[in-house]
This record gives sequence, C-alpha cells and structure tokens, in this order.
Amino acid sequence: SRSLNLAVIPGDGIGQEVVAEGLKVLSAVLPQDVKLETKEYDFGARRYHATGETLTDADLDELKRHDAILLGAIGDPSVPSGILERGFLLKLRFAFDHHVNLRPSKLLPGVATPLAGEPQIDFVVVREGTEGPYTGNGGTIRKGTPHEVATEVSVNTAFGVERVVRDAFARAQARPRKKLTLVHKNNVLTFAGHLWTNVFNKVAEEYPEVTTDYIHVDAATIYLVTDPARFDVIVTDNLFGDIITDLAAAVSGGIGVAASGNINPGREFPSMFEPVHGSAPDIAGQGKADPSATVLSVALLLRHLGHDAEATRIEDAVSADLAERVGLPARSTSEIGDALAARVAG
Ligand code: IPM
Ligand code: MN
Repeated sequence: SRSLNLAVIPGDGIGQEVVAEGLKVLSAVLPQDVKLETKEYDFGARRYHATGETLTDADLDELKRHDAILLGAIGDPSVPSGILERGFLLKLRFAFDHHVNLRPSKLLPGVATPLAGEPQIDFVVVREGTEGPYTGNGGTIRKGTPHEVATEVSVNTAFGVERVVRDAFARAQARPRKKLTLVHKNNVLTFAGHLWTNVFNKVAEEYPEVTTDYIHVDAATIYLVTDPARFDVIVTDNLFGDIITDLAAAVSGGIGVAASGNINPGREFPSMFEPVHGSAPDIAGQGKADPSATVLSVALLLRHLGHDAEATRIEDAVSADLAERVGLPARSTSEIGDALAARVAG
C-alpha cells in the first residue's frame, strides 16, 4: 500500500489553526490505501526564544526523511526582523534547493477583488527561489557613518535560470492557453536581464506551441491590475516574483486564498507547501483565520506528489465553498475546515 509521510510545521500565530484544518482536509481526501503519517516540528518563534535555534543541520536531516513539508506560518513581532526569515524560511529553501517557487492566482467565483468589472484571473507565477538578491551576497563598509556603503548582489547563474525557465515552459505547455511571459527589467539590469532573456529565447525554441512574451516588471504591475487576463504562466526572478505575487494575491481574492509551493522538482529533497499569508498575530487563537490558503497549499502538495485527482477534489471543494459563502455569516476556522473535509469526502 502507498504512504504519504509528511513533516508538519504549524509555526507561529494562526499557523497552528490553519494547519490543523489543512490536515483535516488531507485525511478526508486521501484514498483508504494511502497511509498518512505526520510528524510535527516546533520550529518558529517559541523554539527560537527557548533555544536560540531556528533550523539546525540536525533538523534538516530529520526533515529530509519526509515526502513533503506542510508549513503554517513562521514569524512573530517578538523576534527581530530577519532572524526567522533568513534563519528558517530562506535556510530551508536553500538547503532543500527549492528553486521553483510556485504561486498560482485564480479569482474564483464569488470571491471579492478590488479590481473593477469582472476580471478573468487564472495564471501561475513561477518564481525562482534560490538565487537573485536573496543569496545574502553583499556587504557593508563604513557602517554607521555618513559614508556607509551597502551592496546586495543579485546572483544569476545560467544553470539556475535555465532550470526554472524550463520548469515554466513545461507548465505553460501543459495548460490550455500555453502562454509564458518572462518578467524582468532587462532595460536596466542588463547583465542579469540579458542572461534571463537569452536563456528564455533559447528554451523557447524547444516549445513551438508555447506563445511567449516579455514584460518589464514595472509594466507588469500595471497589467496585473488593468489586464490580468493577459497572463497565463509568468516566470521571473526571486525578488520580482516576491513582489508581483503579493500584488497577484491582492487582486485575486487576497491572502486568505493564496497558496504556494517551494518546490524541488527533481524530488532530491522534500518540497515545502505553505499559505502565502503570515502568522497574523493580531487574530491568532481566535478561530478567525481562513484556512482556505492552507487547504489549497495541501492541493499543491498532493499534485507535486502525483495525487492529481485528490488535488483537484480539494480545489473544487474550496471553489464551491467560496462561491456559497457569499452573503452568509462568517464561520470559524474549524467550521470552514469541517465543511471542506465534508466536501472532499464526497
Ligand atoms: C515570501 C516571503 C519571504 C520572501 C520572506 C518572509 C523571507 O515574503 O515567501 O514571499 O521574501 O520570500
Ligand atoms: Mn513575499
């Protein structure tokens, strides 16, 4: 019989609450013959305060043994900015080579958008996850003086760019519209921009059915608001991808429904799936958080591991639940989880 061995990291704030619902829906959707095993890990602010540790090499060895990782949210105002980001989230992405940061945006029926009219939004951003300005390559000199100089070097390798561009082409090829847009800033960032553009054009030759275009990142923020329907798959650099996926979430129903995958496509390491939202300490412990983004992240997890039918059942359940919410009183985190679990169980 088959098995699914999951590392679960509830983390901080609402992370605990939303992950519980994600697991509830996962258990309900899995076929009888798939044995679900989960092990919970206490990473996050509490562990940091108690031990000073964020993510050790021994932790990474433990996490490595799982098929995938489900994460709620990491972060708390009591921890200085940058510590958990670099010490946990980015460390995990780099250690497990999560070079495909997958962030789909789909405006589902009944979901409010700040955009006018009835925009058609159904695209996926393939954000590079291990290079660009995120590598921590830089430095400061004459610190604290009026002559302080800080550099933050963007690292772009032909290997790193090509593998994420190839992943994006394959995803575009598999979608009905077969369209791929490269987002960069090659009119100013001429070194990295030309590397990206050249690799993109070279790989494009292998995908004659995929329509391609190129948009500067600043212009892309305009189109994401004025004409999001023009996008199908977007491939972009780590920092541009960070920024445009927050905008993408804002226009397509907000962070209550935005899911993401930090993916190692070759499965040498477990991939990590998490809602785009943070730990929201202001509403933590109140049962107010919407678990939908976590539940949709579970769907991405299942699809990554080849459980496509179950992933689709979850996505359909969330879609139906959102459509039926309109005009009804707000439900608690666990009520939404119960409703979704009931739907996927059929
Ligand atoms: C995200 C977050 C992270 C990022 C931070 C918290 C390190 O903003 O997942 O988008 O910048 O990638
Ligand atoms: Mn971000």
